[in-house]
Amino acid sequence: MAKLSVNVDHVATVRQARLASEPDPVVAAAKAELAGADGITVHLREDRRHIQDRDVYVLRRTVKTALNLEMAATKEMLDVALEVKPDMVTIVPEKRQELTTEGGLDVKTHGEALKKFVSHLKDAGISVNLFIDPSPDAVKACHRIGSDGLELHTGAFAETKGTARENELKRIYDSAVLSKRLGMKTHAGHGLDYNNILPVAAIGEIDEFAIGYSIIGRAVYVGIEEAVREMKRLIKEGRGR
Ligand code: PXP
Repeated sequence: MAKLSVNVDHVATVRQARLASEPDPVVAAAKAELAGADGITVHLREDRRHIQDRDVYVLRRTVKTALNLEMAATKEMLDVALEVKPDMVTIVPEKRQELTTEGGLDVKTHGEALKKFVSHLKDAGISVNLFIDPSPDAVKACHRIGSDGLELHTGAFAETKGTARENELKRIYDSAVLSKRLGMKTHAGHGLDYNNILPVAAIGEIDEFAIGYSIIGRAVYVGIEEAVREMKRLIKEGRGR
């Protein structure tokens, strides 16, 4: 069964709305782990709109499963990653005005720079994934530059319906198959929720999902432990299809 890394960014979004100390993503992460999360993901954005540096450093000491740090390929973030040493870094493109990560990395165009960035992290013993739109060219580009793996952007799948959604699902499937064939870790995420996870979870080539917004949103009603358990149940159900 695919693993589930729970993204706790939006616990910090609520905290930052009042610049307060609660709710604490560190507590949420511990509860998510108790409920069966296989990993914890946080995105330290350049503008620090939700997760703060303190969160990343504390989580490094408290997370018992695996800490995945999402970050842009900048010198500032490289320094943080090399100091914190998360279990994994997922490199994402970042624009200041976006509400959330809007598209995958252009690995082909920025190949040389990304290659150097990836090798710095790998030399420090950190596993690296690149966040890409699901396309064979992007998968091959990740492999070429020596990334340990990739995360397939499921946002377009999540936002479409009908035939367009079927086409997106096929793109995710084909990319996942190619990624596994090239021997890479194959993750997926963005926009996945309780209503759309089943067909993606049915793709056996996907090793892990990174899911945040829907889980934290549901946690407001049912608590984070139940929200995580429900998502784990659906991932298992999807895999059985
Ligand atoms: N994966 C990546 C690379 C992301 O940037 C995000 C959003 O921070 C997610 C997964 C989680 O997306 P969502 O919050 O929509 O579940």
